[in-house]
Amino acid sequence: MLAHGRGRVSPARRYDRPVLLLPPNDIDRAAALLRTGELVGLPTETVYGLAADATNEAAVRAIFAAKGRPLGHPVIVHLADVEELPRWSPQPDDDALRLAVAFWPGPLTLVVRRGPGIADAVTGGRDTVGLRVPDHAVARAVIRAAGVPVAAPSANRFGRVSPTTAADVVAELGDRVAAVIDGGPCRVGVESTIVEVLGDRPVLLRPGGVPVEVIEEVLGGPVERVAVGPSRASGMLASHYAPATAVTLVDATAIGPRVAAARATGRRVGVLAPAGSVGAALPGDVVVLDPPDDLAAYAATLYRRLRDADDRGVEELFVVPPPPDGLGLAVLDRLRKAAAPRSA
Ligand code: TXA
Ligand code: MG
Repeated sequence: MLAHGRGRVSPARRYDRPVLLLPPNDIDRAAALLRTGELVGLPTETVYGLAADATNEAAVRAIFAAKGRPLGHPVIVHLADVEELPRWSPQPDDDALRLAVAFWPGPLTLVVRRGPGIADAVTGGRDTVGLRVPDHAVARAVIRAAGVPVAAPSANRFGRVSPTTAADVVAELGDRVAAVIDGGPCRVGVESTIVEVLGDRPVLLRPGGVPVEVIEEVLGGPVERVAVGPSRASGMLASHYAPATAVTLVDATAIGPRVAAARATGRRVGVLAPAGSVGAALPGDVVVLDPPDDLAAYAATLYRRLRDADDRGVEELFVVPPPPDGLGLAVLDRLRKAAAPRSA
């Protein structure tokens, strides 16, 4: 059994040819690669996944090596259809069934008891597994054609910003992946909501593409929020979803002085804040990344904007976060993790 959160990072396999960029109709090629234990960049409605056959221990271990992710962090398993749930989690809890029927295909991952057949490396030795049916025609067609459940974490190097286009996957993983199938830009743009449903009260493990309020409506009761909320000290959050630029969350009223102080040190400064909240007085050399007001649109473009900040040479990014409602909670969570202290 693997220790939780531990384990050595093994070296990635490197291909001695450029990554194959497959068009969205090359389903059979992607499925054949998965069946032979190769890694494939797979579009989903949330972010691109780094996919492998979830029943193949060696293939799943190759995911960890390619990402530089320590063994023991469980990865999500993707199914083609809601009907497959009982095959991989026999006798799911009533709440799990209700949520699967209501939200699959869609950006919701259910952590449920694990049945036999899933590789141990997928779950880090846990007796639970995270399952979801992605709402993306290419993803589901590939999974169906492969004929196996597909393990896929986000297709980025460990701790970095998740990819939302095929080009992002190539930039992140290059020759560490056999192929990337291009399904266009991701519609949701942040990862799935993760809810643990093991028979007790459902627990929110990660806010994401399905607002927790909507999940509570379907369940007719509260979902416990342990992973998020003002009570959690920001210093306890491990850095994740992090661009190269330093990220600091600030109140709109503090933007002016913070920008001035950072510019005084000669650093290239960026601001991610609604234009109306910042005032007109920012100096011309400040990179202003204006997020859409609509929270779903903000989520859909968040990782693109963080990548843009890096591409434009921003060294210090000040962010006025959105309200924690609806998809705003997922955006806020990713921004907090991007702003958390970095160990490396
Ligand atoms: O939208 C998504 O969920 C994307 C796309 C590719 O589907 N995938 C994704 O995977 O975000 P990843 O590996 O980057 O995040 C997986 C998260 C981890 O934070 C892990 O802790 C949690 O899911 N997880 C998976 N299985 C779990 C389990 N059995 N128990 C608790 N947490 C689990
Ligand atoms: Mg990830």
